Amino acid sequence: MSDKQPSWSFVHVTDIHIGSPDSYRYQPGWNDNWSTATRQIQALKPDLMLVGGDLARDGNTEPQQFDLSRKVIDAVGVPWHVIPGNMDTGNKITDRQGALTDRDDVACNVSEELLQIFKDCVGPFPWSVVHKDVRFSGCYEIIKDSPLPSAGELDRWLEQLALLPKARYHVMLNHYPLFIDDINEGAYDITKTDEYHAWYFAMDPAPRKRLIEAYHKAEVTHVLSGHIHCRRPPMTIDGITYCFGPSTAMPQFGDRWSDGDDTLGFQAFTVSEQGIVCQFHPLTEVSNRTDGWGPGGHPKPEAR
Ligand SMILES: [Fe+2]
Repeated sequence: MSDKQPSWSFVHVTDIHIGSPDSYRYQPGWNDNWSTATRQIQALKPDLMLVGGDLARDGNTEPQQFDLSRKVIDAVGVPWHVIPGNMDTGNKITDRQGALTDRDDVACNVSEELLQIFKDCVGPFPWSVVHKDVRFSGCYEIIKDSPLPSAGELDRWLEQLALLPKARYHVMLNHYPLFIDDINEGAYDITKTDEYHAWYFAMDPAPRKRLIEAYHKAEVTHVLSGHIHCRRPPMTIDGITYCFGPSTAMPQFGDRWSDGDDTLGFQAFTVSEQGIVCQFHPLTEVSNRTDGWGPGGHPKPEAR
């Protein structure tokens, strides 16, 4: 970046969950919230928009929903880059059923087939681009060290990422946060009721450790994540700043941390000579529509 480079911005939106009235469940208010976010983003005139996964309500079971997601993201009119989320391609892999009986956890596992559908319907990942001396990269981190062929592709991509020309900053787009409470926390037990949600939201320790090692080799400076639907103030640990982003659709996990805030909105990042500054933009209007239908969570097929 030259001394005269004017400041510029990019935005991070995540968990926008665009749904369809053709589905067994639909919350039109969530789509309305995206319309509000769209107007706010357009007013900011950012250079780029990072879309951090969960673009559809149920892309994993109703991939036709990706068409509308792509259309409304395009309608913002800002160049965008995307990675999938768990509601697009499947959850963190488990070999056993968890404590909640309303879902079949093993059946919710991310699969190679669903990853391929996302690539075909929305776009390829992982990816890395440079814009104005900032490198932006995106990957679906939760498949790290899994048996899926895409996990091998992720490893090869991470090796190459360390060899690419360096930029002043390196922003990594993820869906799952790499940790919940502490970067050194252990694994949560899916079979324990009081640990289920922490298991569901966080990455396991071994892949986390190897992913962070790879990020350090690639000189990643910022990791942006979604999935939780709850924002926290950016945390800088060992040279990497972790930014937990809010959803535009619906709040979750707002009572987990004293500094957590599940207010709906998105984060904008201003890049200047002084660095990268993150600012939260709450939705200026949150829909209070009550004409939606269907269950929440991960209903079993018979409950859809
Ligand atoms: Fe989500």
